[in-house]
Parts: sequence; C-alpha cells; structure tokens
Amino acid sequence: MGFSFKFTDDDIDIDIENETVVNGGGGGDGDFINPLDDVTIDNSCKFHSLNSILDELIGTRLTYNRIDNLPNGCELYKRELYDVKHQLMLEDDTTTSTSTTSTTSTDEMFKILIGEDDVDLKNGVYEGGLKSWECSNDMIWKLNDLINEDLIDLSNLNLVELGCGTSIPSLFIFEKLIKLKKTGCKLLLTDYNFEVLRLVTIPNLLINWCELHLTKSELIELQRNPNQDGNYRDGELEINLNLINSFKRWLCLNSIEFGFISGCWGRSFLKLVNQFIPLHDKKLILTSETIYSPPMLKVISELLIELTNYITILTAKDIYFGVGGSINEFINYIDFRFKMLGDEKKLCFELEKINSNLQRSIVILK
Ligand SMILES: C[S@@+](CC[C@H](N)C(=O)[O-])C[C@H]1O[C@@H](n2cnc3c(N)ncnc32)[C@H](O)[C@@H]1O
Repeated sequence: MGFSFKFTDDDIDIDIENETVVNGGGGGDGDFINPLDDVTIDNSCKFHSLNSILDELIGTRLTYNRIDNLPNGCELYKRELYDVKHQLMLEDDTTTSTSTTSTTSTDEMFKILIGEDDVDLKNGVYEGGLKSWECSNDMIWKLNDLINEDLIDLSNLNLVELGCGTSIPSLFIFEKLIKLKKTGCKLLLTDYNFEVLRLVTIPNLLINWCELHLTKSELIELQRNPNQDGNYRDGELEINLNLINSFKRWLCLNSIEFGFISGCWGRSFLKLVNQFIPLHDKKLILTSETIYSPPMLKVISELLIELTNYITILTAKDIYFGVGGSINEFINYIDFRFKMLGDEKKLCFELEKINSNLQRSIVILK
C-alpha cells in the first residue's frame, strides 16, 4: 500500500485530543515482547564504510544548491533531486543494456525514486529518504539553540542519525565540526534504503565539505582533469580520485569517522550501532519524521530508549494523516516504557510544540 504525505490546509483541523491513542501493547510486564525483537518486515541491515561508497562516486557530476531558511551564519548545501533521478536513469540505461534480470522490488523502488509512481514512500520498499522533510529543519533550529546555549558538547562527539535521508541535521553538525575545527568525532548515519545513502546522504557530506572547507581555487584545482578543458560551474562538482582522496585525508587528519547502516530497525540494527559506537559512550541521537508508521513507531521508540545516554532529539508532525503514527502515540509509548523500566533506566522527556498550520513537535529525551 502506498502512502502520501501531501497535506493540504483542509487536513489540519482534526482534534488531536480525539485521536485514538495506542498504548504500549501487552497487559502486564510479564507478557511484554520488546518490539525490537518482533519486527515483521524484512529486517536485515548492513554496515557500510564511507570509503567503499565514496569510491563509487568517482566519475559522477553532482548538482547542488544552498538550503534556505537556516539560522544566521549557517550555510548548508544539498544535492538536487532531479540530479539524483538523472543519475538513476543513466545507471538504468547501463544496466538494462548489460543485464536481462531485475527483481520486482528493485523495479518498484526505481519507479518511485525516479518519480514515476506518485508516492512519497512505500512501506517496506522505500521509506522517503530522498526528499528533505520539513521537521528536519525544526531539528536544525533546535540544535542551533542547544549549541549556542552550550547544552551540546561538540568535542569528541558521537552522533547517530536514525532515518537520516538527506541528513540535514547531521550536515548541520558536520558544518559546526568543520568551522569550529573539532576533532575526534564519530558520526553514524542510517537509512532504510542503501540507495538513499549512496545517492544523497554521502554526496551531501562531500558537497558540504567542498563548500565549507575548501577555498574556491582549491576546489577548482582538485577538480582539474589534465585531459579536459576546465569547465567548472558553481553548484556542480565533478568527482574524481583527487577530490575523494583529499576528503578522506582530511577526515583522517581530523579523526572524524563516518559509518553508515542501511536496512530496518530492530535488534540486529542495534547491535551494529553498538559495534560502531560502544553502548556506554555518550551519544547525540537525532531523528526526524520517523514515527509515521504505527508498528515501526514502537521499534524506533525502543531504539531511542536503548541508545539514549546523553541527548536524543526527535522531531515530527503531530499527526500523520492516513498513515497512523502521531506524537501522542509516541509520548504514550515512551511514557509506558519509562514506567515499566523504572530505576533500570532513568530517562525523562521534554515536549515542545511548534505552532504552524500543520502542528509539529520536538521531543528531547535525556
Ligand atoms: C519520511 S523520511 C524522513 C527523512 C529525514 N529524516 C527527513 O526528515 O528529511 C523517513 C526516514 O525514516 C527511515 N525509516 C523508516 N522506516 C524505517 C525502518 N523500518 N528502518 C530503518 N529506517 C526507517 C527511512 O530511512 C527514511 O529516511
């Protein structure tokens, strides 16, 4: 079943108090099955290093633009969606001319990614990561406040973004690390779809490093190809070995390590997170627009509960019409679990409302 999040103002006057609130499920503690161990969709997941995916970008030209509506002094860039579709179509031409086999799920995902199927996501196939959703912008403003108030320490930071998609919040943190010359950090970016990681998440990291760290002349010099006349345009990046190696060298010199996980949340996903950043190391956890699906809402809630040992920030719309997830359901679930866990895990949350036509919220778990 395909879901669309295209809201109109007419959708908005639903009374949140009257919405059905699903509690934690299960009666007493005895029959509680942790949703992390009860994921019904394909829950395989995989860790990817940055190097392997970066190398595959060599020979690609990325087109990008500056992101609007950011806090003062903040400068971020992201790959254009049409450019992603263009790359996919070029790749499709190459593979169909060399291969005669394709699977239904990759066909289905390809059609969604190139915009042929008019849906923003399709549960269990493609979870919406190519687009930037509006609550990722709320996350940036919140992060900006917390950093300015010295409530987030960027030194030796460990960051995990769950359901990162275009990874706007992580890009914001990466911008700060570059500008403030922070070193010794680990950033783990995760998305349901590997395609999203390779087509937008990782290209966006490279684009932002080029724009924020390199001077214009360094950027031109690194893209120079001795066999071609230079034709360098603002907002375009010609990826070659030189550029990729400079990025890798800079990350190494500054001890900034990126890791990536593709696939579904669940117990094995949690193990991969803990392998990259040990369980007890302090982590900033970020997640935007990831509670729209009621069955997965409990799974991501459990992940947040397991992983929170410093600051966790979730941003979301109050209600996901037609899909079912909501902030109320999330709050009810974590409240139920906090009570169940008692002294085993002392967590609390703060809820902040953003007033707009379509109500949105920020939840901080500590
Ligand atoms: C609506 S998109 C939001 C993307 C991004 N955070 C933003 O705000 O722009 C939902 C994200 O949640 C992630 N997601 C949804 N269900 C998931 C699942 N079962 N396992 C892992 N990730 C999931 C997808 O990877 C997708 O990027």
